[in-house]
Amino acid sequence: SLFLPGCWTTSEQASPPQGCFVHDCPEREIYMDYNATTPLEAEVVQTISEALWEAWGNPSSSYPAGLKAKAMIQQSRESVARLVGGQAQDIIFTSGGTEANNMVFHTAVEHFWRSREAAGQTRHGNVLPHIITSNVEHDSVKLAAEHLRTNGKADVTFVSVSRESARVEAQDVMAAVRPNTCLVSVMLANNETGVVMPVQQICEQVQAVNRRRQELRILLHTDAAQALGKIPVSARHLGVDFLTIVGHKFYGPRIGALYVDGPNSRTPLYPLLFGGGQERSFRPGTENTAMIAGLGKAAELVSAHLSDYAAHMQETRLYLEDRLKAVFGDQIRFNSHHPGSDILPNTCNVSILGPGFQVLEGWKVLSRCTRLLASVGAACHTHSSNRPSQVLLSCGVPDAVAANALRLSVGRTTTRADVDAVVEDLKEAVQLLSTSC
Ligand SMILES: Cc1ncc(COP(=O)(O)O)c(C=O)c1O
Repeated sequence: SLFLPGCWTTSEQASPPQGCFVHDCPEREIYMDYNATTPLEAEVVQTISEALWEAWGNPSSSYPAGLKAKAMIQQSRESVARLVGGQAQDIIFTSGGTEANNMVFHTAVEHFWRSREAAGQTRHGNVLPHIITSNVEHDSVKLAAEHLRTNGKADVTFVSVSRESARVEAQDVMAAVRPNTCLVSVMLANNETGVVMPVQQICEQVQAVNRRRQELRILLHTDAAQALGKIPVSARHLGVDFLTIVGHKFYGPRIGALYVDGPNSRTPLYPLLFGGGQERSFRPGTENTAMIAGLGKAAELVSAHLSDYAAHMQETRLYLEDRLKAVFGDQIRFNSHHPGSDILPNTCNVSILGPGFQVLEGWKVLSRCTRLLASVGAACHTHSSNRPSQVLLSCGVPDAVAANALRLSVGRTTTRADVDAVVEDLKEAVQLLSTSC
């Protein structure tokens, strides 16, 4: 059972905790923006609440309140490690995905300079660390990379995704590798299209280069924010050194973690912050025990139920696509469908083509919907303007189609009845816009 955003109307939902404000919903809104964020699973709320009450001590204190907090953190570390196929000591808790991604980029640059120093070279000269990433990454990767480039701290290659497959192809990554390349960072699944990237294949090919290299090893990172809780993820199997974990995408709290394959033993890791030594000084600051405990519970739930969650989301998303095709016929374009590419089970990026230019732009359709809560692209771009998504354009979606895009992402409790209501809502919105043009 879940704490659904907004209201408490369906019988399968958990009762709100005592004393909680219950929203009054005249007509139930239907949330289909689970790639933006997810509500907390009731068991996660329960764990957080218990930790707030019972484990309020400073985890560094040696009396019972502190020891209890420390034990909860350790338990969570084990659960999060299990989620990504790693060891407890490979998990560093962070404030979220943005911080985890920034830590990787910071580490890569530092790793470059230290490797050179170890090889007897100085920091002077005109060689910069070189980083390879893709042109469809989340802003917390894209802007971290651009920041390094703009400030003359790194050279960056943004490898374009294939316009056919919408994937970052391994051969294109390999073609970008230079002697000074120190990091390859490619997301595991895209937040807008849901397309799953060939990270394992990229890692295999980069590792082959690493085996031939003497001085500078290329570090491998994947941002798995959108993949966790939707498809199986194993850092070992993928072959990455770093993997970004974001709690609020899998019904957990708004914190995250970075998986590091043997921090400072097999894989270098340099902190962004300095302080009191917590998280083995990789991420100091008094631990947010309750949220860490909640992240662990959310991870446990995924480890135990992933196949059920994924099967439900896939079945619901396929039903949504069928209903859209049945109602809109030739007007429908699925922007997530690319030959040969896998997509997340829950993501349907779709455009409804209109009677003329700009009539059915995504934002206009959503603003006419009375029940559907969804987005036109990444949540962090909602303030940027109504321009078509760069990610979709990069994937070969024509301008006029990209302008009409809706990102519909279903969740663990989305029902067929929700889908029917959403398609009806869209039909009415489209009729309204088409007749008033
Ligand atoms: C792919 C991806 N990476 C990173 C993030 C950022 O994570 P956070 O919101 O925890 O900073 C998000 C979502 O917001 C995301 O979708």
